Amino acid sequence: MNTIILGATRGMGRALARQMAARGDTLFLLGRDEDQLAHSAADLQARGHEGLPGTCVCDLADATTFAPALSAANAALGTVDCVVVTAGLFAPQDQLVADLALTWRLFDVNLTGTIVFCEAARPLLLADGGGTLCVFSSVAGDRGRKPVALYGASKAGLSYYLEAMDHTYRGAGMRTVCVKPGFVRTGMTAGLKPPPFAGDPDPVARRVLSAIDRGTPIVYAPAMWRWVMLVIRGLPRFVMRRIGF
Ligand SMILES: NC(=O)c1ccc[n+]([C@@H]2O[C@H](COP(=O)([O-])OP(=O)(O)OC[C@H]3O[C@@H](n4cnc5c(N)ncnc54)[C@H](OP(=O)(O)O)[C@@H]3O)[C@@H](O)[C@H]2O)c1
Repeated sequence: MNTIILGATRGMGRALARQMAARGDTLFLLGRDEDQLAHSAADLQARGHEGLPGTCVCDLADATTFAPALSAANAALGTVDCVVVTAGLFAPQDQLVADLALTWRLFDVNLTGTIVFCEAARPLLLADGGGTLCVFSSVAGDRGRKPVALYGASKAGLSYYLEAMDHTYRGAGMRTVCVKPGFVRTGMTAGLKPPPFAGDPDPVARRVLSAIDRGTPIVYAPAMWRWVMLVIRGLPRFVMRRIGF
């Protein structure tokens, strides 16, 4: 499989890139920092991965980087079977409330930038028969919740977009996979107290890879979060107002 991956420099994206590389997929890495990209490419090569035709800078906060990055990837790969976006930003609710510039940046990256990037990538997939668009949203977008009101709103918008992409383009051959991680121990969550059912990047990446192969439209990871969020989505508002979850 020829895959463009945005976000392979850290966390779940790095775990997923390593697993894709290990099974022989050809990867083109996109990311906002040239040094981090070179480091990630060297990491994959050190693990014996040969199918790495290149890297290119692409910053979700700067839409002018999207077209050059995607055309470099397309030229290097020849055909594009899969586009994965794991890149995203998180900040705690109190920091976002205190810093509206940070709030703006979070929505810019997680919502506007990610959706516009997907719109730019979609024609590449459809031109090559459809393929798979796999994007990391979050369980935080499943219900309006006090501790993640702003981050959750950015991911809720993204999840709705991805659902609509699946409805619109599956008939044309493009499968959209919306990944909804629960709490996963990565740099993003460093310093936060892990709740029950917290996960780790490698098992999450295995689950995501299987969802990509099957074209599963929504994947919760770790799997338990599907049931947690089923309960949370069913709670009445008066309960949601009282609890801190
Ligand atoms: N960890 C969790 O518990 C959790 C839960 C729910 C959802 N998620 C979502 O899952 C995804 C992966 O999370 P993670 O925990 O693996 O995060 P992570 O370890 O913090 O990695 C984030 C990745 O996003 C990239 N990135 C950040 N801003 C970017 C920008 N403007 N342009 C391009 N790349 C950018 C980072 O690149 P650099 O190397 O350049 O910094 C890094 O590769 C994110 O979308 C996150 O919102 C995570």
